[in-house]
Amino acid sequence: MRIPDELAEQGKKRIAPYPVEGFVHGSGPEYAKVMLVGEAPGETEIRNGIPFSGRAGNELMKFLEIASVTREEVYITSAVRSRPYKWGEKNGPDGTKIKRKYNRAPTSCEIMAHAPLLDYEIEHVKAPVIVALGNIGLKRLIGKENKVSELHGKLLEQPVLRLNGDQYEWTEKEYWIFPTFHPASIFYNRRLLELIHSDMKNLCELLGNLPMNEQPR
Ligand code: URA
Repeated sequence: MRIPDELAEQGKKRIAPYPVEGFVHGSGPEYAKVMLVGEAPGETEIRNGIPFSGRAGNELMKFLEIASVTREEVYITSAVRSRPYKWGEKNGPDGTKIKRKYNRAPTSCEIMAHAPLLDYEIEHVKAPVIVALGNIGLKRLIGKENKVSELHGKLLEQPVLRLNGDQYEWTEKEYWIFPTFHPASIFYNRRLLELIHSDMKNLCELLGNLPMNEQPR
């Protein structure tokens, strides 16, 4: 499944005023076992155009294995399709400061700029479950008051947020949403690994029990 070119172009224009670079399409089959919603691509992804192909992606693939699904079976996307960056400095080999770009979390304006792209994917990808990877994806889907730390590993059945003009509104349709931590979270907190493994086992069991290609309503 690929979003229409004109929608991608509209997304690029809408995000152009912000400090972001590159553009990575969502990737995977229209009939997917799950749809994964991440945060935003990083440096590796904008270079090769493949979502979750960097360090976080390597971790994600290990998690998917526990859930008994392969990259080819899932649709992978994110709240924002361009890499949000900030400038910083690092020490060069001779001690001089080198300016470089660092990843940062997308802002609510950037998430809104690319909201129509994710809305389209949610409407067109026929996956029984949407897995929210981390707080950015989760809050984009079901509102800012929600936290992965409180909801991870549980299956939620509810509408999702969809952009209408410059306001989000709830979809009429309900979806199965499964929140878990963003794979990159384990780089900062190794203890989350155990929780993610347990979430993936839950997801595996759940996928075995859900009718494929069906959504709540
Ligand atoms: N994090 C994301 O959310 N998406 C990617 O593609 C890479 C890292």
